[in-house]
Amino acid sequence: MENTARTPTILIIVGITGNLSRRKLLPAIGEMAAAGVLPEQFRIVGVTRQQTVASSALLENVKNAEYLRTRMTLSPMSLTDAAGYARLGAYLRENERELGGAAQRLWYLSVPPKTAWPIIEHLGLSGLAKAPNTKLLLEKPFGVDSESARELVMHVERSFAPEQVYRIDHYLAKETVQNILVFRRDNPLFEHSWNKDAIERVDILASETIGIEGRIAFYEQTGALRDLVQSHLLQLAALTLMTLPEEDQLQRVPHARAALLRTLQVDPDHVHRGQYAGYRDEVGNPASMVETFASVTLFSTDPRWRGVPLTLTTGKALAEKKTEIVITYRRGSAPKTNRLTLRIQPNEGIELCFFAKRPGYDRTIERVPLAFAYADYFGALPDAYEHVFLDALRGDHTLFASSEEVLESWRIVDAVRSAWETRPGGLTLYPQGATPERILEKEASDILGQ
Ligand code: BG6
Repeated sequence: MENTARTPTILIIVGITGNLSRRKLLPAIGEMAAAGVLPEQFRIVGVTRQQTVASSALLENVKNAEYLRTRMTLSPMSLTDAAGYARLGAYLRENERELGGAAQRLWYLSVPPKTAWPIIEHLGLSGLAKAPNTKLLLEKPFGVDSESARELVMHVERSFAPEQVYRIDHYLAKETVQNILVFRRDNPLFEHSWNKDAIERVDILASETIGIEGRIAFYEQTGALRDLVQSHLLQLAALTLMTLPEEDQLQRVPHARAALLRTLQVDPDHVHRGQYAGYRDEVGNPASMVETFASVTLFSTDPRWRGVPLTLTTGKALAEKKTEIVITYRRGSAPKTNRLTLRIQPNEGIELCFFAKRPGYDRTIERVPLAFAYADYFGALPDAYEHVFLDALRGDHTLFASSEEVLESWRIVDAVRSAWETRPGGLTLYPQGATPERILEKEASDILGQ
């Protein structure tokens, strides 16, 4: 792994005035500066189309704002103008002279996919992509279906070598998600029974209380399936079910995730979608068929998992903010079942439900938890974006999505979309604040009533 402290680094954030940059990227860099993990020689160049923006306005809620203020400059430019890239290249070289030599350049494209496309092209044409020690960090969505994802992969690879590219899925960088690998690898008790003989089903849920928060254009083109299932939920599924690489082969993790994704097939009888009441008014499209809720069941052809349903569920404007992976064990001849929950957020932790005799004269059996909470042992967890930056600086691809994985996940999403088209029932309208169970019940009764 690369030595980050010694390598002078310039982070170029394209789209620095955007929501993601203000909410996540700049605060993450502020935290990293406070923790002393940034390279000694570090600069940020913020590229923006806005001509009049002050860096102080971008750093309002950022820890260590002073550190960032002294290292950050803004470069207003048109993102489709070749001359702008030539000027930016000259400006980067000037910065490098001040830093004492060629720097590692990290390009972070914090812009919508349509904007990213010409930027990638210009980085190629201007030669900036091929400057030594250059890395490209891309935000999802990586396409809208298999075909567009394939085109995007080819487009990026016309300018950048695969090892220069870091596709961000911020879920992979969450502490609790990184721990899935550790939990499985370092606790043989569980890994030995991590298969179809012991496990009855796997459910992965990402439920959100928020709606679409003003991202109208984005969400109307995306929907819950492309937004959360294609990326975060399939990545969680892959980490949970994949074959673990050898201890010293961690760089093989993206390949192992892709191999698992390749085994997943959609169950066309269990593909559900819903939309929260009020969504159509919010987006100003009375005919919108975009789903804000999706629940799909998949099966793996891997002999280790054959016959075990894997259900991925996500939705906006639901009753609770909660992301978790629930492993339900087989009951055998017993009427009860054990359940293991990996709680990704909030109240990060791990819980195993088992049964105990309630003390007393009667033989009453009760379900009780065996629980571990991060907060009790480790205090505050670093934000996922801190890991994203640090690992890109170090050149560690483990927490990023490879093109192989991206293409496999779109294959699955495309199959869900075609199953939706042929399935009766269509889109279930649900009241805001509903639970996933309630939405699925409503769908079932709507179908019966038709
Ligand atoms: C993003 C999605 O990738 O993840 C959003 O585009 C979603 O729609 C968000 O709200 C959820 O992330 P987190 O970390 O809050 O669970």
